[in-house]
Amino acid sequence: MSLTRTKPIDQLIAEGAATGEGTLKRTLGPGALVALGIGAIIGAGLFVRTAAAIADRAGPSVVLAFVVAGIGCAFAGLCYAEFASMIPIAGSAYTYSYATMGELMAWIIGWDLVLEYAVGAATVAIAWSEYFNRVLHLVGIGAIPYQWCHSPLERMHDNPSVHGIMNLPAIGILLVLTALLVRGTQESAWVNNIIVITKVTIVLMVIVLGWGFINPANHTPFIPEATQYVTPTGITHHYGGIMGILGAAGVVFFAFIGFDAVSTTAQEAKNPKRDMPIGILGSLAICTVLYVLFSYVLSGIATVQDFRTVGREASVAYAITKYMPGYAWLSNFVTFAILAGFSSVILVMLLGQSRVFYSMSHDGLVPKVFSEVHPRFKTPYKSNWLFFFFTAIFAAFLPEDIVGEMTSIGTLFAFILVCIGVWIMRVKRPDIPRAFKAPVLPVTAILGIVVCLSMIYGLGWTNWARLIVWLLIGFIIYFGYSRKHSLLAGR
Ligand code: ALA
Repeated sequence: MSLTRTKPIDQLIAEGAATGEGTLKRTLGPGALVALGIGAIIGAGLFVRTAAAIADRAGPSVVLAFVVAGIGCAFAGLCYAEFASMIPIAGSAYTYSYATMGELMAWIIGWDLVLEYAVGAATVAIAWSEYFNRVLHLVGIGAIPYQWCHSPLERMHDNPSVHGIMNLPAIGILLVLTALLVRGTQESAWVNNIIVITKVTIVLMVIVLGWGFINPANHTPFIPEATQYVTPTGITHHYGGIMGILGAAGVVFFAFIGFDAVSTTAQEAKNPKRDMPIGILGSLAICTVLYVLFSYVLSGIATVQDFRTVGREASVAYAITKYMPGYAWLSNFVTFAILAGFSSVILVMLLGQSRVFYSMSHDGLVPKVFSEVHPRFKTPYKSNWLFFFFTAIFAAFLPEDIVGEMTSIGTLFAFILVCIGVWIMRVKRPDIPRAFKAPVLPVTAILGIVVCLSMIYGLGWTNWARLIVWLLIGFIIYFGYSRKHSLLAGR
């Protein structure tokens, strides 16, 4: 039994082409895929993590952090697109690496993608909870007590003797969306399209209307002097200078996560070879432009101190309310609309998660329960419910900073492995037809690896330690269960 046994590509392609009992429905065209991408991309990264990056890491130079993160994603995205167009079946980076780098590496990626999708969904659910609380306040119901909408690691800014117990709204939204997902992709994609339009509209409105309220003092100096900053949860980070920008890039990288989720739905795409690259790169390009402009406006409207204190939560609505007189309606609109926006992100992440485990389960690396398809809805419903419990625990008991940065580092690591994989594949199997080829490989792959590694470096040792612990748990499961149960084990 070899750790480097690979799953034959021809078998993968045949699986993708299979139809009938136990397979997923092919319903998504290129427009739906770009919408799915944007639906997955714009969310908590922009509306919550940007403020945390400004406060803890980079001040206004968060704008440059978005550029760094966007460049890293573009290189990795090109590699993703080549893989997705070559191996058009569900499972994302996991499937691609099974065909190229062998079973152990595939396992590491599949396990690592749990950080991206499931822990990512938990992060967005926490962000949802922040804005939901603001909605309750706006409609006059009053806020949920601090204890019941924060994790035990968080303390009230104005009254540090009060700490959180459990984040109930975050659990609630995960529950509702899991139920929706169980009913099927087609309905979910339809709801997603409306939400994408709303989301892009509010981002454009904040950019256009907020531009006139930029205070040049907030952009001076644009790159703060290098120093250290201790976050409200007691973690010390580099603030300012190059390290500040790299750390912030690692934080706001979260805002780009999702374009690769498109590739996990390849088994549901009508024409995956042509449509996957369009879906992945199209949604990435649109979002990068919006993010750079948005972060320039947000860091220009409010001060770093605002984002370090009461403006840390529901930051965009806070900044508009405090610094844009006469625009309370915009703040309210953002607050309501973003709840739907966050929901679409959670939905796509939960969808991506269940699809990855669907593939892993088919291969025997995780138990069969993860690939049991609902007889009527054709969705992996048991998997969806199991991941509800997993994500709910993270969302209920951990602060957004920790889960958000775990998501970033896990995804960056997966992207690096994808860049390596596409390069190996070009060398090992140049004969396989590719509907899309990443330009100037291996330069693209090398640059993707370098930029993603620099963001991992910027995220700091607490995050490296969390990633290592997560991977160690993965190794225990692999050597204790998956290696023996793998369908390739008997060959
Ligand atoms: N990119 C997604 C977001 O920012 C995960 O919420």
